[in-house]
Amino acid sequence: MHFSIGFLLFLFYLTVPANADQPFHSEDYFYYICDSISTSTGNYTTNSTYQSNLNQLFLALDSNSTSNGFAAGTSGTVPDKVTGIVLCRGDLNASTCSACFSQSFHDILNFCPYYKTALMWYNKCYMYFSSKYFLSSVANSPQVSLMNYYNVTVDPARFDHAVAQLMSQMKSWAINNSTKFFATGEVTNFSTEFTTIYGLVQCTPDMTKSQCQSCLEDLIDHFFEHASGKIGARTIGIHCNIRYETYPFYEGPSMVQIDSTIPSQSAAPTPRPVSVLTPAINKENDNPKTNIENVDSFLIDLSTLKEATLNFNESNKLGEGGFGAVYKGILPNGQEIAVKRLSQNSGQGVKELKNELVLVAKLQHKNLVQVVGVCLEGQEKLLAYEFVPNRSLGTFLFDNERRQELDWRKRKRIINGVARGLQYMHEDCQLTIVHRDLKASNILLGSDMNPKISDFGLARLFQVDQTAHATSRVVGTYGYMAPEYAMHGLYSIKSDVFSFGVLLLEILTGRRNSAVDGEHGEDILSSTWEHWVAGTITDTMDPQLDCPTNEVIRHVQIGLLCVQEDPINRPSMSEVVIMLSSNTISLEAPSKPALYLRRGGSSISQSLSGGRSLQMSQNDISTAQLGAR
Ligand SMILES: *[C@@H]1O[C@H](CO)[C@@H](O)[C@H](O)[C@H]1NC(C)=O
Ligand SMILES: *[C@@H]1O[C@H](CO)[C@@H](O)[C@H](O)[C@H]1NC(C)=O
Ligand SMILES: *[C@@H]1O[C@H](CO)[C@@H](O)[C@H](O)[C@H]1NC(C)=O
Ligand SMILES: *[C@@H]1O[C@H](CO)[C@@H](O)[C@H](O)[C@H]1NC(C)=O
Ligand SMILES: *[C@@H]1O[C@H](CO)[C@@H](O)[C@H](O)[C@H]1NC(C)=O
Ligand SMILES: *[C@@H]1O[C@H](CO)[C@@H](O)[C@H](O)[C@H]1NC(C)=O
Ligand SMILES: *[C@@H]1O[C@H](CO)[C@@H](O)[C@H](O)[C@H]1NC(C)=O
Ligand SMILES: *[C@@H]1O[C@H](CO)[C@@H](O)[C@H](O)[C@H]1NC(C)=O
Ligand SMILES: *[C@@H]1O[C@H](CO)[C@@H](O)[C@H](O)[C@H]1NC(C)=O
Ligand SMILES: *[C@@H]1O[C@H](CO)[C@@H](O)[C@H](O)[C@H]1NC(C)=O
Repeated sequence: MHFSIGFLLFLFYLTVPANADQPFHSEDYFYYICDSISTSTGNYTTNSTYQSNLNQLFLALDSNSTSNGFAAGTSGTVPDKVTGIVLCRGDLNASTCSACFSQSFHDILNFCPYYKTALMWYNKCYMYFSSKYFLSSVANSPQVSLMNYYNVTVDPARFDHAVAQLMSQMKSWAINNSTKFFATGEVTNFSTEFTTIYGLVQCTPDMTKSQCQSCLEDLIDHFFEHASGKIGARTIGIHCNIRYETYPFYEGPSMVQIDSTIPSQSAAPTPRPVSVLTPAINKENDNPKTNIENVDSFLIDLSTLKEATLNFNESNKLGEGGFGAVYKGILPNGQEIAVKRLSQNSGQGVKELKNELVLVAKLQHKNLVQVVGVCLEGQEKLLAYEFVPNRSLGTFLFDNERRQELDWRKRKRIINGVARGLQYMHEDCQLTIVHRDLKASNILLGSDMNPKISDFGLARLFQVDQTAHATSRVVGTYGYMAPEYAMHGLYSIKSDVFSFGVLLLEILTGRRNSAVDGEHGEDILSSTWEHWVAGTITDTMDPQLDCPTNEVIRHVQIGLLCVQEDPINRPSMSEVVIMLSSNTISLEAPSKPALYLRRGGSSISQSLSGGRSLQMSQNDISTAQLGAR
């Protein structure tokens, strides 16, 4: 790689929206770099000339950019001179661009307070300012490269070739045919794995044609050092940028179209239908529809469930869980049950759905809520679970009085139980089930506070669009979501490990990780990390915990290992179980977690820190490489 270590000292951030009510759009995340080190520009202070120049700069950039989504200029004089640039994606209209710029001016002061040099980069626009004058050249620095964590599985060389061809044609189009130096393009009919590949190239309009051409060529020439075999990648510099994905990410028709009619090799293996899922899921998919003859033993009549729940009477309602309302019921044999009335359409046929539900029903573990029966009649899709008397972990943990009932012994029991339940789902049961929405309110507490995981196996039934568009269908709860899942809809057993880590830290601190709702929540990943680094970890633990310091430290360390930003670095659940059960096994030093910061009322950001830069791999979605050639 051609990146200097010095640049890795940059802080680097990724952001996702976090509106709990709306599905995620990975298109909304952003990065920022707050830099005072690599540029040696330092910080400014409140009421300084630099601050007022910066505000002037924002105003000028804002008004100068209205006509073509671009502006660059300076404000003030040396030594307080500040230089800035903004660029909006070429397919967007003036109002969208203006909103994006306003957001960036607002965000950059929040995220990089007092930094004299900072970069704010969104999918729709970016801005950069510095106390160093950088407009005398068209050097494309700072520069950020990102690639998807996931690989093309079928003929990656052909995929790379198609991307290269697309990039080259878009480059020509942007230079010869666009006044904005902008082009989008697609490769159609590519493969059964990816029908279409979408791409984009753009230069700032202040460049000459030949400057734009060499800027783009430089990016494209080095692109495949990182992007090779990846299902999506981009490099963003301040003067030009390129990107491709296997889902549409820009507006309007594509300017370049390359028809790459699928070679009709009937001998070619049918690729698995899901492009972004992990091997774990393939295992699920590959699993034959087992034991269909057993299906009947799990079926339960609608009339029985209606009777049990008094016809789903409001007064029997236990709550609204993920995927539907839950009612308490009593079966004729006296068994207490909780009936989940699935409200969403799975898009699957009844027969497939029934088989899937039965597969879920077959999971049996003392730390999973047991499914008692499945009902699919008419429009109704119902799952009957064993009734778990004590409510969820969340109702204890996040209530100042009830939390006191959770002494260290009980908390340890809960932590161990959840770990074992997850391990079973991931590794021990016949299938591999990724939960995707593990959180305190999904941990029910049985007798003697034995934890039971609920809602497992449902995310995959109801939320996975089995295409690359899964990115916009992310389910899960903000605050527990792993960055690769939140941003790209890419999940794996390691995204569950992330959620487990968040849960573990919540149990230890007695506080909710909710950076979204800034008023009530707190970013416990950041605060835990800060205390960890400072060696003051016990200060941030739940004061009610009466446990030996070394145990706390060990548990915090395990939690931090689970929330590491790179999924590869996170342990598996069986490793976690081993770490939890032994006081002697030595633990690795965790790297800085993906941090959550708040942004307005509805969004958050995740920081990817340069602190782990030395482990950066080319294959990592969250690998952020900053540098200049
Ligand atoms: C600038 O301020 C930030 C906090 O706002 C601090 O982390 C950073 O170290 C400062 N940089 C310098 C060079 O003082
Ligand atoms: C900055 O200026 C404002 C208004 O002039 C004043 O109220 C505030 O105290 C100043 N802050 C500092 C840190 O000087
Ligand atoms: C804004 O436009 C004016 C007039 O073209 C120019 O003099 C100034 O440098 C520009 N400033 C910025 C920050 O773009
Ligand atoms: C700009 O584009 C957005 C969609 O990106 C659209 O909702 C909006 O109506 C457009 N505004 C104008 C003024 O065309
Ligand atoms: C992608 O391929 C690289 C090797 O080229 C491998 O290290 C990485 O784990 C793969 N990623 C996934 C998600 O399989
Ligand atoms: C278009 O741009 C390319 C450079 O990317 C150049 O080689 C070519 O001559 C230009 N003109 C036409 C008509 O394609
Ligand atoms: C692009 O520009 C070239 C000349 O520079 C022209 O021959 C070609 O037709 C244009 N393509 C489109 C799609 O407009
Ligand atoms: C290629 O894709 C287009 C739609 O993108 C479709 O209309 C066309 O039939 C496809 N051609 C072949 C040969 O599959
Ligand atoms: C539903 O519950 C209410 C009390 O909340 C009761 O009055 C009503 O009779 C119940 N309906 C049925 C059908 O059992
Ligand atoms: C519910 O939890 C309490 C501890 O808060 C415990 O004493 C009680 O036994 C539990 N109830 C049941 C039915 O398990």
